[in-house]
Amino acid sequence: MPESITIIDNRTGNQLEIPISQGGVVASEWQKLLPGIWFYDPGFTATAACESTITYLDGDAGILRYRGYPIEVLAEKSNYLEVAYLLLYGELPTTTEFDQWRHEITYHTYIHENLRKRFLEGFHYDAHPMGMLVSAVAALSTFYPDAKDIFEPDSRQRQVVRLIAKMPTLAAAAHRFSVGMPFVYPDNSLDFCANFLSMMWKVAEPRFDANPTLARALDILFILHADHEQNCSTTAMRVVGSSHADPYSCCAAACAALYGPRHGGANEAVIRMLTEIGSLENVPSFVEAVKQGHGRLQGFGHRVYKSYDPRAKIIKATADEVFSITGKNPLLDIALKLEEIALNDEYFISRRLYPNVDFYSGLIYQAMGFPLEMFPALFAIPRTAGWLAHWMELLDQDSKIARPRQLYVGPDPRTYVPVDQR
Ligand code: CMC
Repeated sequence: MPESITIIDNRTGNQLEIPISQGGVVASEWQKLLPGIWFYDPGFTATAACESTITYLDGDAGILRYRGYPIEVLAEKSNYLEVAYLLLYGELPTTTEFDQWRHEITYHTYIHENLRKRFLEGFHYDAHPMGMLVSAVAALSTFYPDAKDIFEPDSRQRQVVRLIAKMPTLAAAAHRFSVGMPFVYPDNSLDFCANFLSMMWKVAEPRFDANPTLARALDILFILHADHEQNCSTTAMRVVGSSHADPYSCCAAACAALYGPRHGGANEAVIRMLTEIGSLENVPSFVEAVKQGHGRLQGFGHRVYKSYDPRAKIIKATADEVFSITGKNPLLDIALKLEEIALNDEYFISRRLYPNVDFYSGLIYQAMGFPLEMFPALFAIPRTAGWLAHWMELLDQDSKIARPRQLYVGPDPRTYVPVDQR
């Protein structure tokens, strides 16, 4: 039996059968039956803007899968580059495919010298690395004019490889500039995460060998951040991509969306919040203040997850391994206390607010030595794989240009009054 909703249009008395497709209503069907009646949905809380085969998310059950593979399995058994391949092409690579993929990514890590000299070094000395990253990604489009051939398969593949390969180089370069350290060239003998850590931390040694436990922890964090279906930055990617802009311009828009404290800036906000709380005895009064409407518990709550974010569980376990090398982050005890109080408090229980991915990731990044300003950049590096997977999917779907309706609530027509008569 096909599912449907029966609606009586009280203006005409007509009874309408609205078909339900996969739990929702297809707007084109709705428009045929009720032309001119549209939905007011700021924040897209009840609107699916696309079909996607990339990531499955069940927020009530706390399930996250990439292309059908549970996130827990990928975090345990896979690595970021393999996961990026999976997201982009739909299947796990064979050994030959993976070797070729890793080779291509490794040999596209360098950036054009003019990008570094003219753009990155042109920023003010205290520029925020994320602002630099947003701009540098947009600037890449001027170095690769072939990127405009978005329907040419070879060109598309080249830009995908370039973007995934160059993001760590750009992010590390932005950090080095912001702290007055010289740029470190990629070391193509290292794997993806070890190379990024080398570009971040290398000083005068001929080769920087990252601690393997820390490199693996970063790899796990990259896997967990690689995609999350229609989040704010991925939606920005798809919206800009729907205008057929080149992938660098689309990624720059996605990066800009990620910069905000409600999205990629949340783990930075968590550290600032924990620092402000300062000690265990201040936790209850802080939670009370949040309940009274003074700010939010950063790293808590999610538009989709209404149970414990599965990524937060994995990160909590990874944190222990990192702290065994770096020493415990002194803010951890405050975070644990905060979580304990919030998870037993009616305010948070009734609103189904649980720790999200950002609650613990910042503690790990901080213990590994990353400055707070780098946290959104650490999110942007792996999310590039997800952004590009959605971008390719969107183009293959021959999607319409994104152009929502609006509810106009401004003034009625008015007579223009010349400035000297106002
Ligand atoms: N602390 C206290 N109260 C909260 C929180 C919070 N973190 N989040 C939501 N609420 C309350 C909110 O005040 C509202 O209460 P009421 O119904 O009484 O008005 C209710 O819960 C629903 O909140 P909402 O703002 O309608 O929920 P949303 O789905 O629009 O917002 C969110 C989702 C993630 C923006 C929000 O939970 C938030 O601001 N969290 C803190 C920032 C954060 O951790 N962001 C990272 C998200 S995960 C990573 C990512 O996807 O980028």
